Formats: sequence, structure tokens, C-alpha cells
Amino acid sequence: MAAEAKPKGGLEDVVATSSRICFLDGDRGVLAYCGHDIHDLARHATFEETCYLLWHGRLPNRAELGDLQSQLATARPLPEAIIRLMNMLPPSDGMDALRTLTSALGHYDPDAHDNSPAASYRKAVRLTGQVASLVATWGRMQQGGGPIAPDPAMGHAANFLYMLFGTRPNATSIRAMDVALTLHADHELNASTFAARVAAATLTDIHSAIVAGIGTLKGPLHGGANAEVMKMLIEIGQDAPADRIDAFVKGKFARKEKISGFGHRVYNTEDPRATHLRQMSRELGQKAGNTRWFEMSERIEGLVKAEKKLHPNVDFYSASTYYTMGIAIDLYTPIFAVSRISGWTAHVLEQLANNRLIRPRADYTGPTYPQTWIPVEQR
Ligand SMILES: CC(C)(COP(=O)(O)OP(=O)(O)OC[C@H]1O[C@@H](n2cnc3c(N)ncnc32)[C@H](O)[C@@H]1OP(=O)(O)O)[C@@H](O)C(=O)NCCC(=O)NCCS
Repeated sequence: MAAEAKPKGGLEDVVATSSRICFLDGDRGVLAYCGHDIHDLARHATFEETCYLLWHGRLPNRAELGDLQSQLATARPLPEAIIRLMNMLPPSDGMDALRTLTSALGHYDPDAHDNSPAASYRKAVRLTGQVASLVATWGRMQQGGGPIAPDPAMGHAANFLYMLFGTRPNATSIRAMDVALTLHADHELNASTFAARVAAATLTDIHSAIVAGIGTLKGPLHGGANAEVMKMLIEIGQDAPADRIDAFVKGKFARKEKISGFGHRVYNTEDPRATHLRQMSRELGQKAGNTRWFEMSERIEGLVKAEKKLHPNVDFYSASTYYTMGIAIDLYTPIFAVSRISGWTAHVLEQLANNRLIRPRADYTGPTYPQTWIPVEQR
């Protein structure tokens, strides 16, 4: 590789593809799906409308939305063999289970051997329905409950909560879940979406590309951060006085440890998703009669902003939001995947529509060439 092409670490600021899906302006804190501002979508959209927007580049009319809702409803029941496999897995992290089970779904997909654009779209819809069922059923079984059949009359957010808790969710929880799913649906070339696009560009199948995305999302620098945030809040303790919260955070600064849920490669200002999640965390806490997690989070935000000039990202307030909704910590990152499957599949379809193998170069920094071969006895 030419000597002048010294890359910044982590492909920072590298434009790796063109895309019509997600617009991101990190300096102004703007996020938009196909031109629609995330604040508008968070206020008005359902997750199904968001999916349609990402897959088709425009909002659906009533008939198109109805069609998508019934396709998702048809997709939600899991094959019996997948439930059996779920039962056979050893005690596992939720993301490990999701990775294995999503891969297994590929074996049972009626379009398994058809990678045409039409079949890939059908698989995108099917995977979006199925991944929500996988996570809800896994979560329920971890709590000792049996699988619950999806209710075709319910929307995606409501059905997810129903299959997870086994009771009909109230309007507040449904709206909170819809907003959370919409906020997490896409984020341009984040690490997991890039991984999915790289896989898709080899013309592998869509299940393989999504499994690459799931494995990448799991990391604590990416989607795994939301679970880490809640573990941190619990470690500090719900009843911790202000000085204990401060000492905990300052201890992390002193040891140069990162604080999960803060910082972002692209945003230099508030992550617009965090604005909504902060509000949701507060409102759900108030409704539940316990705002301690929210207050602790706000205090930590103030400390990190003052000391490090870092803003909370999507993972920071989603932690206390999900915790207040009664969701187990192990499901936070899988729920990120329940939403991001829409963005991953949209990007995979876009990649396939105008594909070229993604194969960059490396700046070689190893031993000089050529090295002399030394027989093994003489080394
Ligand atoms: C998101 C993240 C991976 C972006 O990483 P990045 O663009 O490679 O930035 P870096 O890790 O190089 O960080 C740049 C500087 O900010 C500091 N920093 C970044 N995030 C930090 C955090 N959460 N807590 C404390 N310091 C942080 C780094 O220590 C580094 O400081 P230095 O220059 O003095 O060494 C990073 O901010 C992070 O690890 N955050 C915590 C995990 C998280 O919340 N991930 C979810 C992202 S949506």
C-alpha cells in the first residue's frame, strides 16, 4: 500500500459506501431515516412504519402498512425445532443464544436456497418477525416460563411485550417499546451494520449476514454497552447518596476506565436518541413511583459531561428505561437486535441491489520483505 495512505485507527471518518438509508450529522446532532428526522419518528411512528421506511425509502400508506403488519404476524410463530433447540442450549448469554438461534432459523426458512432480491426481502421481513419472537421467548424461558404464542392482532411492540411477560401490556409500555425500537432501528455504518454489509457483499445468504451483525453488536463497545450501564447503576446501588455516586464515577476517571453509555464515534453533541430515552426513563420512573435510577443516571451524566465533555449515547438511558419496564438485563442487547434487524436487513438489501465485493487494503507494518528462510533445526 502507498506509504502516504496512513489510515486513522478504526476507519474513523472513512466513507466506505453510499447509502440512501440513514443521514447522520454528528456536529449538529441530526439523525434521519430516509430524510425523516428521528425526533418526528420517535413522536409519531410505529416500529412497523419505521421498518417499511427503511426497506422502501418512504413511509407506507394504510394498505401497505396493513400488508406489512400481516406479513410480520405470519412470520412470528417460531418453528417447533427452534423452541427445542432453545431448550437444549446450556445456560447462555442472551446474545450468544440469539446468534445461535438466528443462524438455526436459516435452516427452516422456506427461501433458504433462494437469494434472489424478492426472496431476500421476504427473508428480511421474516427475520424481523422471528427475531422478536426469539428474544421474547428466550427471555420468558430464562424466567422459568413456557413459550407464549404470538397474538396476530397485536402490533410488533405490543406482541413482543406480550410474548415476554405473558400479560397484555398497557398503552404506556407499548408506546415506550415502540419508541425504543424506532430509535435503535438504524444508525448508518455502525460496526454491526458494516459487518452485515461486508458479509452480504460476498453474496452469502441474508441469515449469515445478520449473524455477523449480531455477533458484532454483542461487544461492549457497541450494543453490549446498555447492559453494562445497568450493571454499573446496580453496583453503585439504588439508595447510594450523591457522594457515593460521585466517588464511583471519579474512581473510574482516576483509573482511566471508560464509562459505558458515553461517547460516540460520530456525535460531538447530544445523541438525539438519548434525548428521547432520557425523557422515557424519567416518565416511566415517575409512573412506576421510582425515579432513583433516572436521578442516578442524570447525576452521572453531569459528572461525565463536566470532566470528560462526553455526552450520553443511545445505551445510557435505555438501561434505566428497560429496567423500569421490568426487563431482565440480559435482554437489553438482544432487544437492540430486535430493532436493528430492520436496519441490518435494509442495508443488506441495499448492498445486494448494487453489489461489489468489499475488500479494502491494509498498511503493512510487519517484518521487512524478503526474510531469509531458516530451516527449523537452525531457528
Ligand atoms: C463509543 C466509543 C467506542 C467510541 O470510541 P472511539 O471513537 O474509538 O473513541 P475512543 O475510544 O478513541 O475515545 C476517545 C477519547 O475519549 C475517551 N472516552 C471515550 N469514551 C469514553 C467513555 N465512555 N468514558 C470515558 N472516556 C471515554 C477515551 O478514553 C479517549 O480518551 P484519550 O484520547 O484521552 O485516550 C467510546 O466512546 C466508548 O468506548 N464508549 C463506551 C462504550 C459505549 O457506550 N458504547 C456504545 C456506543 S453507542
